[in-house]
Amino acid sequence: MAEIMEIDDDDDAPAAAPPPPKLDKGKSPLAHDVAKSAPWVEKYRPKSLADVAAHRDIVDTIDRLTNENRLPHLLLYGPPGTGKTSTILAVARKLYGSQYQNMILELNASDDRGIGVVRQQIQDFASARSLSFGAKPSVKLVLLDEADAMTKDAQFALRRVIEKHTKSTRFALICNHVNKIIPALQSRCTRFRFAPLEATHIRERLQYVIKAEGLDVDESGLTALVRLSNGDMRKALNILQSTHMASQHITEEAVYLCTGNPMPKDIEQIAYWLLNESFTTSFRYISDIKMRKGLALIDIVREVTMFVFKIQMPSNVQVKLINDLADIEYRLCSACNDKLQLGSLISTFTNARCAIVAAAK
Ligand SMILES: Nc1ncnc2c1ncn2[C@@H]1O[C@H](COP(=O)(O)OP(=O)(O)OP(=O)(O)O)[C@@H](O)[C@H]1O
Ligand SMILES: [Mg+2]
Repeated sequence: MAEIMEIDDDDDAPAAAPPPPKLDKGKSPLAHDVAKSAPWVEKYRPKSLADVAAHRDIVDTIDRLTNENRLPHLLLYGPPGTGKTSTILAVARKLYGSQYQNMILELNASDDRGIGVVRQQIQDFASARSLSFGAKPSVKLVLLDEADAMTKDAQFALRRVIEKHTKSTRFALICNHVNKIIPALQSRCTRFRFAPLEATHIRERLQYVIKAEGLDVDESGLTALVRLSNGDMRKALNILQSTHMASQHITEEAVYLCTGNPMPKDIEQIAYWLLNESFTTSFRYISDIKMRKGLALIDIVREVTMFVFKIQMPSNVQVKLINDLADIEYRLCSACNDKLQLGSLISTFTNARCAIVAAAK
């Protein structure tokens, strides 16, 4: 059953201590220990809206609406690790301060959110009279995290509940796939899309964490972290933390080694073999580097494809090559035999080479 008054989110938040008088100050020694051992994604979860990196326009709009006490029902959507849950939690802290636990009903994917919960728990919470703490009476907040996993029935039931309780309660829906939210709910909410974070924002936030933790990260290491994160701040912080556990000095090599991704220079080397060596030699060399560095063929195929985008070749050859590489990736996803797919990768390049030679004649 859902824990009604828990604010902290889906991810493994440290066990909740009794509500502290202030949110980030004056913690007990125990809380301090928990904070110390907490994963960095939680330790550096933005506490206020000002801490949220990127999405300035969205955050400013939500901030303004919160200040003016005109918060609409919200629908935040976008890929993982972009700050949706963090933003809404920051709004909750801002709205309710130390009283947030009493004013929020948070339900995420780990809770049952079928039609029964909408009818019972959400209705009960929304219709309960809200106590007014401080000068201005506030509306309550129902957070439905990972709302795309809610059943259709529950979503339909929610339509009426949202309308009925608009006076006293605001609903914030958060999801990755907005098309899994029924249109009727979408139209009741103000939608904000959280795009993947830009490299500069990921870099700035990482630099902040690096400074706070006193880490030794060189420029190439930082660039590798930004590149591998692909706009996902959670991923960036997780890679940073695991690389830090593995090695004190964080370099590009340490980062790639920790994640098991092929290094750019390995990919260049593999692409060189594919474009120049005979079938047997390529097969031997690539099998060897795979074994030696523990690389997965699927990662090689993905990175080589990105590399092919950058090579100059007749466009019809390039198009066919990329298409064939996409097929190999698809087959690898369905757990096809690695050796056969490596053979297929080399054959694809052999065909492309023949086509390039033919085009040059
Ligand atoms: N915009 C951001 N600014 C600062 N930190 C961020 C940002 N986005 C994500 N993070 C970091 O990543 C962690 C996860 O963020 P959050 O839970 O807000 O992601 P989310 O968008 O809700 O992802 P999901 O869709 O997977 O639930 C946070 O604890 C924080 O450390
Ligand atoms: Mg989330």
